[in-house]
Amino acid sequence: MPMPFRAVKITDDIYWVGALDWGVRDFHGYQTNRGTTYNSFLVLSEKIALIDTVKYEFKDEMMSRIASVIDPSKIDYIISNHAEMDHSGSLPDVIKAVAPEKVFTSKMGAAALAGHFHEGLELTPVEDGGEITLSCTNAPGGPLTLKFIETRFLHWPDSMFSYIPERKFLFSQDAFGMHLASTERFDDQVPDWLLECEAARYFANILLPFSGLILKLLEKLEKSGLEVDIAAPDHGPIWRNSFNIVKNWYHRWSNQELKQKAVVIYDTMWGSTELMANAICEGLSETGVNVKLLPLSVSHRSDVAAEILDAGALIAGSPTLNNQVFPTIADNMTYLRGLKPKPRICATFGSFGWSGESLKHLDEIMAALGFESIGQVKAKYVPDDKVLRECLELGRKAGTRVMDTLK
Ligand code: FEO
Repeated sequence: MPMPFRAVKITDDIYWVGALDWGVRDFHGYQTNRGTTYNSFLVLSEKIALIDTVKYEFKDEMMSRIASVIDPSKIDYIISNHAEMDHSGSLPDVIKAVAPEKVFTSKMGAAALAGHFHEGLELTPVEDGGEITLSCTNAPGGPLTLKFIETRFLHWPDSMFSYIPERKFLFSQDAFGMHLASTERFDDQVPDWLLECEAARYFANILLPFSGLILKLLEKLEKSGLEVDIAAPDHGPIWRNSFNIVKNWYHRWSNQELKQKAVVIYDTMWGSTELMANAICEGLSETGVNVKLLPLSVSHRSDVAAEILDAGALIAGSPTLNNQVFPTIADNMTYLRGLKPKPRICATFGSFGWSGESLKHLDEIMAALGFESIGQVKAKYVPDDKVLRECLELGRKAGTRVMDTLK
């Protein structure tokens, strides 16, 4: 059945041929509130190249967009910049349909794709800094080259960028991306607040553990003098207007610059830990610190990760349930440990009935994160006035410390 999807022209010889996933709400544990896009790109040159493919279920949409520009069987090269299934899921079928001359990927990409598909895909591994010719010097549009830049762990060990120097065009796979389904394809068509909000949420949930490597990569790109007019990630809008802005955001987030902000997370069984959380927030707010209170009964772990990205303090409250921390707190703290946020101050609080182990467990988790504890408040059953005053004081202490030490 013919499908109605059209390619979107980016330059005279580069087209967006990806897919929109309006309904996806989970990306391996990250809640994608605004859906996503799987971006792939077609380069029209003497050798026609397809850069990345899409999630398996969206193969027909991508093929339809390609067919709106050229006969897909004319594709000579496929480049797989990243082996994760949202970009490679349809690769085996696309290879069968297109029969390209070559499929290029990084060395680690070749191993990862073999591990995913077990189909004996014929892949051509490329080196960091390697390049291929897409058009020769006397081609009508001039020469066109595709260079490969390894970007290990941005997002996976196999990840690489592809770059066309003649067009100053960077295909950056996950880097500089965001989960945002939108009919707009370009950064200047999306409100600035939404770009920053979703790019930060993506960074916090996907890239934060690799902050050190990202800083090194940004430095490498800077030193190499790589000029970028357009950066096209595999998710979200294409940066044709404000690539420098998102690059600066990446510097800030990778450095994990903390602000005068405190995040309070808690869950509650019968309202006691909630009362304590509210008293702590009262104390925090007296100091002028920016306070984000996230009740975990209604807040997703990816909301928490996004808020913690630049918060100078994390204050976590948990009742004791069967000698353990409450399940939602355990979920969030496990997720957070994997994201490896840099140390900051913390405090813990919670109610208990008889044994009260939750705060001991929570403190162990905070210590494993390298966070500095500045206090703890416990309540037996229901907090009385004395305990609530202690909570108020804990909030004041945390807020004052953040305000005094951070900008
Ligand atoms: Fe968009 Fe790491 O996959």
